[in-house]
Amino acid sequence: MELLGRPATFSDPPALKDPQGFTTLGAITAVEHDKATVTLHCGEARLRLLLLTDDVVRLRVAPPGASFGRDFSYALDPGTTWHGPSALTVEENDAIVRIQTGALTIQTEKTTCRLQILDATGRILFADEAGPAWENAGSNGTDTVSHVALSARLRPGERLFGLGDKTVTLDRRGHRFALWNTDAFEYQRGTDPLYKSIPFLLSLHDGAACGLFVDTTQRMTVDLGAEANDRLRVEAPGSALDYYVLAGATPLAVLQQFARLTGRTPMLPKWALGYHQCRYSYRNEGEIREVARELRARRIPCDALYFDIHYMDGFRVFTWDRDAFPDPAGLIADLKQDGFQSIVIIDPGVKADDPAYGIARAGHAHDAYIKQPDGSPYTGKVWPGACHFPDFTNPAVRDWWGPLHAELLKQGVAGVWNDMNEPAVFIEDLEEATAITMPEDLRHDYDGHPTDHAEVHNAYGMQMLRATYEGLLRLAPERRPFTITRAAYAGTQRYGTTWTGDNTSSWDHLKLAVEQCLSLSVSGTPFVGADVGGFVGTPDGELLARWTQLGALMPLFRNHTTLGTPPQEPWVFGEEVERICREAIELRYRLLPYFYTLLWEAATDGLPMLRPLALPHPADETIRREAPLGFYLGSSLLAYPVLDAGQIQMNAYLPPVPGGWYDVHTGRHHPGDGGTVVPVETPLDRLPLFVKAGSIVPFQPVLQHVEENPVEELTLHVYPTPGAFTARLYDDAGVGWAFKNGD
Ligand code: GLC
Repeated sequence: MELLGRPATFSDPPALKDPQGFTTLGAITAVEHDKATVTLHCGEARLRLLLLTDDVVRLRVAPPGASFGRDFSYALDPGTTWHGPSALTVEENDAIVRIQTGALTIQTEKTTCRLQILDATGRILFADEAGPAWENAGSNGTDTVSHVALSARLRPGERLFGLGDKTVTLDRRGHRFALWNTDAFEYQRGTDPLYKSIPFLLSLHDGAACGLFVDTTQRMTVDLGAEANDRLRVEAPGSALDYYVLAGATPLAVLQQFARLTGRTPMLPKWALGYHQCRYSYRNEGEIREVARELRARRIPCDALYFDIHYMDGFRVFTWDRDAFPDPAGLIADLKQDGFQSIVIIDPGVKADDPAYGIARAGHAHDAYIKQPDGSPYTGKVWPGACHFPDFTNPAVRDWWGPLHAELLKQGVAGVWNDMNEPAVFIEDLEEATAITMPEDLRHDYDGHPTDHAEVHNAYGMQMLRATYEGLLRLAPERRPFTITRAAYAGTQRYGTTWTGDNTSSWDHLKLAVEQCLSLSVSGTPFVGADVGGFVGTPDGELLARWTQLGALMPLFRNHTTLGTPPQEPWVFGEEVERICREAIELRYRLLPYFYTLLWEAATDGLPMLRPLALPHPADETIRREAPLGFYLGSSLLAYPVLDAGQIQMNAYLPPVPGGWYDVHTGRHHPGDGGTVVPVETPLDRLPLFVKAGSIVPFQPVLQHVEENPVEELTLHVYPTPGAFTARLYDDAGVGWAFKNGD
C-alpha cells in the first residue's frame, strides 16, 4: 500500500461563545497580599497575582466554588527560579487597588476587578476589556464551570506576533485561531489549526512590548480582533484560568522573559547547523549510499541524512527492514566515515496486531498505552495499521520509551525525528471525516493526575519528544541529543528542534516558510526550519534554488519531499541550479561560526536566532505599514530572501541604525541612519544579505561537513561605524558538555 498522505479535514475557525453566558469577577470585596502575591477577592471568586519578578506577573483565576486548579504545567521550565519582585506595594482608595513593583503598576478597578498593567513610564501594556470570565455548564449559574475566557483591549495600531506556526501574516491581528494540534498534511495559507499550539503572543504598541501567555493545553480559541477589532478574546474548556503578562524594556527582553519561563533550546551538536538531506523515503541501503556519494562527489556540503518510515519493518518502531537495510550498523558506520550523521524517524504508533512484535508486547507489560474509558488500550490506525499509543504523559512510560533507543544508538544513529505526534490517527471512512485524531475521552496519566485526552492533546507531542530527548541523554550522557518534533506546545524547545510539517512546493509556501519560522522564533522556539523545496509536489529549479538560499539562513536546513515525487536533491535541476544551491550551502558553512554563536545565545540567553524586523525596530513606521519579509539573523545580519518567481530586482528596506548597512556580497556601504530603501539586483545566484554597521562577522573556510577538518582559520569581516563596537564569538568542541565548565 502506498501511503501518499492523509486527507486534510479542516474546520472553519471556531465560533466564539456568547459573552453574555459568561460571568466576570465583579466588585473587589477584600485584598490580601504578601511579598510577592496579591489575592483579590470578588465575593466567592478570586484573582491571584503572583509577581515572579518586577516585570513578569502570573494571574490565576478561581471562579466561585472552584480552586485555582492544580499548580502544574508542562510549559514551565523547572530549571528557572523566580525571586519575586524587588519591592511590592499595595495601596487602595475608593476607586482602585494599585499594585506597584520595581517596574510595573497594576491598577484594578474596585467595582469590576478589571485591571490595567502599565510600565514605569505610564504606558499601558495590557488592559482588561471584560477581563477574566467563566461559563457555567448549566443555565442556573451554579453548576460546574465549563469554560473560561479572557478578554483584553486591543488598541489602534497594536500588532500581535507569535502563536507558533499559524499560516497568516506575521501580525496575527484580525484573525481567529484554534489551538488544537493537527496533522495538517498539505496545509495552505489560512489553514488552521496546524501541528503546534503555542498560546504566546507578543504585542507591540506605541514602541512598547508586552507578552501574554495563556497556559492551557486544552483546545483553545484565540480571537485577535476578528470579531471586534478592539478586543482580544481567549476561550478554553476547564474551570481554571492561568496566564502570564510579561513586560520588558524591549521586545527582545520580553522574549527573553518568555524563554526564562518556558525554557531555552539545549545546546545542539554543531553538525545540527549543517545541511540535511531527507526524503520520504530513501527506500534501501543502495539509495541512501547513492545520495551520500553524489553529495560528496559534487562537493555539496552535507552533515545529515534521514531514514524516513520505510527503513522500518512494516513501520514497526525500533525495527529495521532487513531486506532493504541488511546491515544498519555497517551502513551507518560507512556514512559516518564520510561525515554523515544518520537520523531516524520514530512515530508514536506502536503496531498493535502482531503478537510477534516485542515492543508492542513490552508496551502491554508496562501498561504503557493510552486507555479507553473502560481501561482497555485504545487502538487507532497509522502507517503500520492498527496501533496503540504510549501515554507519554506518564513518567513511567517516558522512562520505558527512552531506553528503547539503545539499539539504534548502538547502531550509530545520531538523531531521532518524532513525527505524527499531534497525535495523528487516520480515519477509516473519509466521507464521514471530521477529525484525524483520537477520541477526547481517552485516559491519560498526566503526570499523576489522571485526565482525558482533551486536556493533554496539545502536550502529547511535546511529552513524546521529552521521552526521546531524556532517553537519549540517559543512554549517552556525554552526548548532546539531536531531536526533531512536528507537534509542540509551549516549552517544547527544551527538548529539541522542530520543523513546519507538510508544506507544498510553491512560491507562496516559500513566503509561508519565512512567516512560520519567524513566528515560531517569536514563540520561544528558536531552532526551526521548513522543508526546503517543499514537501508536497515538486519545485522547479528556480524555486529550489531560492528555497535553498532561504534554507541556508534558517536554523534547521533540511531538503525533504514526499512519497512518489521525483528526486529533489540539489543536483537534479541541472548544472546552474546545482551551482547556486552549492553556493548557498557553502555560504551557510562559511557562516557557521556566526550561526553557532546564535545557537549558543539562544541556549544561554533565550534570544531568538531569527528575528522579524519589528523586534529590533518596534516603533518603525515603514516596518509597521509594509511588513517587509526581511529578517534578522541575530543582531548583525539582515536577509531579504527572494520570494517571487522571476524576480531579478528588489527594493530592500534597511531600517535606521547608526552607521547604516553594508551589502555582504559587494561590500557596498548604505549610509542612511534614518532608514533607506535600496534597489538590489537579485539574479538567481544572489540572496540579498546585509550587515549592520558596527558588526564583526566571522567566516570560516567551506567544509564538506562540520567535522571534516578542525577549523584553523577564521576571517573576521569588520563593518565599521564611527566609534567603538564589540561583537561576540562563541565556540567549543561542537559536541559534548565540556562547554558547561567553560571549555
Ligand atoms: C509526515 C511527515 C513527513 C514524513 C512523512 C512520512 O507526513 O510530516 O515529513 O516524511 O510523514 O514519515
